[in-house]
Amino acid sequence: MQDFRNKVAVVTGAASGMGRAFAERFAREGMKVVLADIEQPALDQAVAELCAQQYDVIGVRTNVIQLSDVEDLARRTLEAFGKVHLVCNNAGVEGYLDGALWEATDRDWDWTFGVNFWGVVNGVRTFLPIMLAQDPDEGYMVNTASATALVRGSNMYGITKHAVRALSETLYGQLKQRGARVGISVLCPGVVNTRLFDGERNRPSELRPPDSSHAGERPSDAIRRAWFERAAQSNSPDQVAEMLLAAIREERFYVYTDHEWDDRVKAFCSDILNGSNPVLQASLTAPAART
Ligand SMILES: NC(=O)c1ccc[n+]([C@@H]2O[C@H](COP(=O)([O-])OP(=O)(O)OC[C@H]3O[C@@H](n4cnc5c(N)ncnc54)[C@H](O)[C@@H]3O)[C@@H](O)[C@H]2O)c1
Repeated sequence: MQDFRNKVAVVTGAASGMGRAFAERFAREGMKVVLADIEQPALDQAVAELCAQQYDVIGVRTNVIQLSDVEDLARRTLEAFGKVHLVCNNAGVEGYLDGALWEATDRDWDWTFGVNFWGVVNGVRTFLPIMLAQDPDEGYMVNTASATALVRGSNMYGITKHAVRALSETLYGQLKQRGARVGISVLCPGVVNTRLFDGERNRPSELRPPDSSHAGERPSDAIRRAWFERAAQSNSPDQVAEMLLAAIREERFYVYTDHEWDDRVKAFCSDILNGSNPVLQASLTAPAART
């Protein structure tokens, strides 16, 4: 995709972090942008900041877990701007980190997979048919996975991201087979300085643990603190937005932003090829179960 001016972009998870940066970068490129997010006050603020810079943007509160919300997002986009050319299925949460997988509840699985995997599936099912029907207009989809999608699985988050990568690879093949004028990339960032590990702030009430009112240290809190310390020294969302825009221009499928992960990616592949057992590294899952 070469031509961005006056085209229409939709970004989910656009009230914070990378989504916020993508929205602004696309607007600076002359696009009309629809910002979608579950967190209304942050969404309002992001839209107000972009409007103050004279960008043509709107906000639509969206819970990507719900297909009906994503369909409403598409309706509102078409009402406002008539078409949609670039969709970033970007909303995500760190999800369940509080123990072993067998200790997770239905709500933990539904929240983590609901946002990170089904949120992307809902974007695919809703927006790809619209962009395909707009032929000869070009379309483009970006699904945000993670560098964790390229290495050995170690927590529920990573499982969702492996699924998003595989989903995106499958879509890439199917779009090519059909000769579609819709391209696709899978974004695999390493650690980026965002609020990712504060995802609980937007966990829907029906998916919170019934006992979440009690204040106290969670098994995963130390992991969260360590992640934020590391994130503060990592790439900024604006840097990733720049890399993503270049990748969309070049129609590059894998958008891998952080070569700090190279050794782990290579180890993952060679362990499989050699049949060797993975060397365990510090895992982003707390050792003890949720109390
Ligand atoms: N920050 C990193 O280190 C990193 C690394 C790799 C991948 N990612 C991925 O990047 C994407 C963006 O995350 P970020 O790091 O910018 O974090 P962030 O928390 O700053 O932004 C995520 C946004 O998603 C929104 N969101 C959460 N649940 C939602 C829902 N149900 N419906 C709609 N919106 C929802 C949040 O409100 C927030 O605005 C995520 O998919 C994340 O998994 C992040």
